[in-house]
Amino acid sequence: MRYPPEFVDRVSEANNVVDIISQYTQLKQSGGGYMGRCPFPDHAEKTASFSVSESKQVYHCFGCKKSGNIFSFLKDYNGMSFPEAIEYLAERASIPLPETQRDDNDQYAVAQDKKKQMLRANKIADDFYRETLKRASSTHPIKTYVQKRKLSIETIEEFHIGYAPSEWDMLANHLDKKNISASLADEARLTKPRKEGNGSYDIFRDRLMFPILSPSGEVLAFGGRIHDQGEPKYLNSPETLVFNKSKVLYGLAHTARYIRPEDLVVVVEGYMDLVSLFQAGIRNVAATMGTALTPEHAKLIKRMTNNVVVLFDSDEAGQRAAERSLPLLLAAGLYPRGLILTEAKDPDEFVTQFGVEALQKKIHSAPELFNVVLQMWMVDYRGEASQKVKVMDQARPVFDVIPDPRLKSLYAQEIAARMNVGLDWVRSALTSTQGRQNYREITPAQVTSNQPKPAAEAPKKPLFSITGASSAEILLLQLALKSRANFEVMLNQQILSQINHLGVKSILEKAEQVYRQDPNKFDKLLSLLIENLDKPELLFSSSMSSTSEFDEEKENKMLSDCFKRIQQTFLKEQAKKLGMALKQNVDPEKLKEIEDLQRNRLSLNKNEK
Ligand code: UTP
Ligand code: MN
Repeated sequence: MRYPPEFVDRVSEANNVVDIISQYTQLKQSGGGYMGRCPFPDHAEKTASFSVSESKQVYHCFGCKKSGNIFSFLKDYNGMSFPEAIEYLAERASIPLPETQRDDNDQYAVAQDKKKQMLRANKIADDFYRETLKRASSTHPIKTYVQKRKLSIETIEEFHIGYAPSEWDMLANHLDKKNISASLADEARLTKPRKEGNGSYDIFRDRLMFPILSPSGEVLAFGGRIHDQGEPKYLNSPETLVFNKSKVLYGLAHTARYIRPEDLVVVVEGYMDLVSLFQAGIRNVAATMGTALTPEHAKLIKRMTNNVVVLFDSDEAGQRAAERSLPLLLAAGLYPRGLILTEAKDPDEFVTQFGVEALQKKIHSAPELFNVVLQMWMVDYRGEASQKVKVMDQARPVFDVIPDPRLKSLYAQEIAARMNVGLDWVRSALTSTQGRQNYREITPAQVTSNQPKPAAEAPKKPLFSITGASSAEILLLQLALKSRANFEVMLNQQILSQINHLGVKSILEKAEQVYRQDPNKFDKLLSLLIENLDKPELLFSSSMSSTSEFDEEKENKMLSDCFKRIQQTFLKEQAKKLGMALKQNVDPEKLKEIEDLQRNRLSLNKNEK
């Protein structure tokens, strides 16, 4: 869903980055802004080096250098996409989603309303299951099972793990008491209408319950594990209005904040694997729920990191999953690595048997998934010609979706080395159209449908680069964007045309444009800009720390020094250019220009003394 810019503006104006971040760390007023301990878990600091500016709606950590606005915070901390963040913030500020999305029958509004009610029903069910687990007597079999699985109280709390009682209608009755209609509960797939007689019965009975949460903590669905013998081992909510298995990864509401700072996600296959790894201290995890990874999952991951280590079970299914996920992850522009755990059935058992350090070690030395899969293709390889061709046939669809030609070429080398064939042969086998031409003669549609989709989204490149800007140019950016007064002084000085660094120049030109259109937008400039910079941390160097008290005189002095340094550089560059031109042909006009320039430079230097 795309929201109109006015709506986005309205929603961001109605929210305060200070309030959002305060949910996760304690912020204290300090100087012109707020300071606190960095909320990101990788940055376990004792001192308060995390600063938040209320007027600019941006944050920056002087320790770990993370910075951004309200949207980047929700993305990095909770793994929310932009639309998810917008919806979350709109909900917080009680702003209804735009009317334009509704059609004549108001179907959209009806669906939105239904979704909300369904989430409420799920939340009530979640609370109910948690409470039931807490209240179960210590001799209850479910308590024995929880103990057997070594789930700590903290883990149970963190993941809202609960218990669905074995009676047929405990939840149905409870929902009824909470004014959730039977038809809504049925539609949320919490209950099912009885075939005979009235009313509904509970779908989940006598199971350990794992709620599946959205990044903002809404309860989307449930997975329930049998604690006794029986089938199925896990019962899962089917698709509903609020749940689509192929678009959700289990655990992100708890783990996104660890994935971003570690710049790595470990992907596992099951609820228990995720929970168990989290409890053991590996927290940058996400889990598929028994299905293969989808392109949507890859997109979710791409939002948080490019680096993936997928842990596969050692069975046949695990191997197939490895093979299937390779092109999908590569197509998304990710760098997948993979591990097939042979020593234990799954990651949970591995940790229990060999300890978390052993698994950490394996994760950090995991080979590229490409090599893992290649290894599988070459299990019976004896160097026969037909085997070489078969491997190439398996490899080609993978190569077709790799967006980065450099990676492609390295993988081609890898294959050449492993099969002991020439690189040229591999290259021509990859580009050979023979197989595909045959395909085309059958039906072109077949070919396209057989090929995994290319990268859905190219990685977002920063719009502005400030790498290589001089210290004066960086200081100018800092000062000019700091206050409207400074910005206006800069405009009056007409310094823009003299800025040497193209990135800095275009930022300030863009800022001027925005400012001229609507001066009230000034306070938003930095927050809009920060996500589009290649090195936002440069704007927060310690000389400008928001803790330092505001000193107008000092700041004006800094500003005028800054102008002077920029002018000097500009004149020097001009002189250099003219000098070069003169070398080529002597032109009296140019000579005169140089004299003027030199005079200007001298007078600047004199003023300085
Ligand atoms: P596994 O069979 O590997 O189970 O299924 P597990 O996660 O190791 O669970 P424990 O340790 O035996 O408790 C992996 C995932 O596949 C889905 C679940 O999401 C499960 O976590 N699954 C499995 C189902 O949906 N239904 C099933 O019957 C089995
Ligand atoms: Mn398991």
